[in-house]
Amino acid sequence: YESLSVAELAKKLHREPSEIIKKLFMLGVMATINQELDKDAIELICADYGVEVEEEIRIDKTDLDTYFDDTIVEVDENALEERPPVVTIMGHVDHGKTSLLDSIRKTKVTAGEAGGITQHIGAYQVEVNGKKISFLDTPGHAAFTTMRARGASITDIAIIVVAADDGVMPQTVEAINHAKAAEVPIIVAINKMDKPSANPDRVQQELTEHGLVPEAWGGDTIFVPISALKGEGIDQLLEMILLVSEVGELKANPTRSAIGTVIEAQLDKGRGAVATLLVQDGTLRVGDPIVVGHAYGRVRAMVNDLGRRIKTAGPSMPIEITGLNEVPQAGDRFVVFQDEKTARQVGESRSMTAIQASRSEKQRVTLDNLFEQM
Ligand code: GTP
Ligand code: MG
Repeated sequence: YESLSVAELAKKLHREPSEIIKKLFMLGVMATINQELDKDAIELICADYGVEVEEEIRIDKTDLDTYFDDTIVEVDENALEERPPVVTIMGHVDHGKTSLLDSIRKTKVTAGEAGGITQHIGAYQVEVNGKKISFLDTPGHAAFTTMRARGASITDIAIIVVAADDGVMPQTVEAINHAKAAEVPIIVAINKMDKPSANPDRVQQELTEHGLVPEAWGGDTIFVPISALKGEGIDQLLEMILLVSEVGELKANPTRSAIGTVIEAQLDKGRGAVATLLVQDGTLRVGDPIVVGHAYGRVRAMVNDLGRRIKTAGPSMPIEITGLNEVPQAGDRFVVFQDEKTARQVGESRSMTAIQASRSEKQRVTLDNLFEQM
């Protein structure tokens, strides 16, 4: 460890902080409980207790993004295989994003197979003409922004849903900007076409002002009129998705260890931390040592979008896992490590950094508050 506070070291050694402080005092160092100790001091104390300091991992182990990016850089061209597109559905509140997802799923998954189609699903995969497509409901805007800020583009195609009776609204524009910033192709789904007040021409006109020009008007944006409620236009939309994804030539290496991103996560009373992950490259396996944001553990159980237990999950596949020591956040990245020890070290050091960051954050806030009071 490059640095630990007295309290953290005490915890690791299963001793009282006061005992450590006393020892430091004997060594001629005056320390408080929150004092940061450098490597030498840590080694000295540990030697005194006859404990060996575990070998430090030499790269900055707090930066999961480094692992993520490093592993992405090592591309083995020969191992690359076609992977399904990851499609994110975005749009203004109530314009029908979730209805569209439900409708696609209903069209493509037989009721018996689906089991609980009514349950909320944030991510799933369907098969169209023998090709798979992964769908994501808009991850909360905050999470999406975090992902973007980190340059973590998880989506290959953005579907912007616009209600034909309502037209372009503030969050429609936001969604367009997100998609443009992520440099992903956009397909517009003009929804609620079944409504008498539907006005698709107006929607096209308004979107043209935001740079989305339909092909009929000389542009290159694909517009598909649909009714999520009635299930109309869904097949055309799916065909367009396949068309656009073929152009993208999406590839991944299923033989490498998995990396990806958290779609959503929560604490389950019985199962502990449950996280929905999107595998972006490689294959995730039950038993894999994994670091997910600041959480870590082993993949204990893995289920697919139909709630079935599975043992492996390949590229572009959304799955739910258990086995993490805490709940990660949407937008967090995950990396699989070869051995559990490394995963644990990386995980522990990451959560420690997070604690330190929040500690200094608190201090800053206190100072700000002081200034405000002055
Ligand atoms: P948020 O997640 O709250 O942003 O909304 P959403 O975009 O997911 O919209 P949702 O799918 O929940 O649909 C909002 C309302 O519009 C619901 O009452 C739907 O029944 C209705 N709706 C969705 N699609 C259609 C459609 O094609 N036609 C009609 N008539 N109503 C629709
Ligand atoms: Mg919704």
